[in-house]
Amino acid sequence: MSFRIQPTPVARPNRCQLFGPGSRPAIFEKMAASGADVVNLDLEDSVAPSDKDTARANVIDAIGSIDWGTKTLSVRINGLDTPYWYRDVVDLLEQAGDRLDQIMIPKVGCAEDVYAVDALVTAVEAAKGRTKPISFEVIIESAAGIAHVEAIAASSPRLQAMSLGAADFAASMGMATTGIGGTQENYYMYHDGAKHWSDPWHWAQAAIVAACRTHGVLPVDGPFGDFSDDEGFRAQARRSATLGMVGKWAIHPKQVALANDVFTPSQEAVQEAREILAAMEQAKANGEGATVYKGRLVDIASIKQAEVIVKQSEMIGS
Ligand code: COA
Ligand code: MG
Repeated sequence: MSFRIQPTPVARPNRCQLFGPGSRPAIFEKMAASGADVVNLDLEDSVAPSDKDTARANVIDAIGSIDWGTKTLSVRINGLDTPYWYRDVVDLLEQAGDRLDQIMIPKVGCAEDVYAVDALVTAVEAAKGRTKPISFEVIIESAAGIAHVEAIAASSPRLQAMSLGAADFAASMGMATTGIGGTQENYYMYHDGAKHWSDPWHWAQAAIVAACRTHGVLPVDGPFGDFSDDEGFRAQARRSATLGMVGKWAIHPKQVALANDVFTPSQEAVQEAREILAAMEQAKANGEGATVYKGRLVDIASIKQAEVIVKQSEMIGS
């Protein structure tokens, strides 16, 4: 219980974040033309060490030269355990134009990781007289990251979003899988001669959602590696949406429409939410705190549940 009102995250759509390697400028225009709400130009793990400098220069140039429309434009910098990250931050902040919205910090393991980047960004912004403050997003993708997830969610007023990075997370945890998200063959319950698959990502997702909702940060599901498996992507995305996540990464353009579809409340869901709100208005007029809608209980808590769906739909529509 807390008397504090839960902070609301930034009001912008984040249904899909499309990634592309900074070393592959030929796809930047395609990323800009895609249906993704967020574009992530990558300087980290999709770029080979020998390409780091070229990728950084490509990205700085593209930020100013390509029309990114209304998308949130984010650059994933290298991790704080590399020799590249400070140059990523300094060059981006000194050389890239004001169109840059956000920096994504990977492999965050504690709140101080975010503090360190914040200090550097704040200094360069002041030195260069940048008037538009850069926002942050982080990836939780290590044992330390999930252990400190709540402090990380509270780490900086710049922080707008937090993603689960399934591949590095699995490696850091020592999970016996090379799969990136989705069903894992050996993670099953056995009953009455049949296997029933469970979700090994569930607890990490729930921990991220709780930390994010406590501190007004958008919780996002990360990559789904098998881009030939549309149904697998859809199932993973639907579970994430049900748990409270607002969107998912696309590591291939064909995943953008899948994510947008799952993370846009359906007309039926919005209609039902509006009917629940109307039923509760009627209940209130009758002096009741609870009533029956389609044979099931709705009460004052149902108003808040329905408002989540209606507000999400209105925010995306506007
Ligand atoms: N964004 C926009 N367009 C992309 C794209 C992306 N990330 N990846 C591929 N495309 C384009 C291709 O250029 C091609 O366009 P065309 O039809 O005009 O020729 C089309 O989509 C189909 O591409 P396809 O041949 O199926 O894929 P590919 O072999 O070129 O690339 C990947 C496949 C996975 C290597 C590539 O999608 C990729 O680099 N994804 C992002 C990886 C990344 O950033 N990882 C870090 C986060 S986990
Ligand atoms: Mg990673």
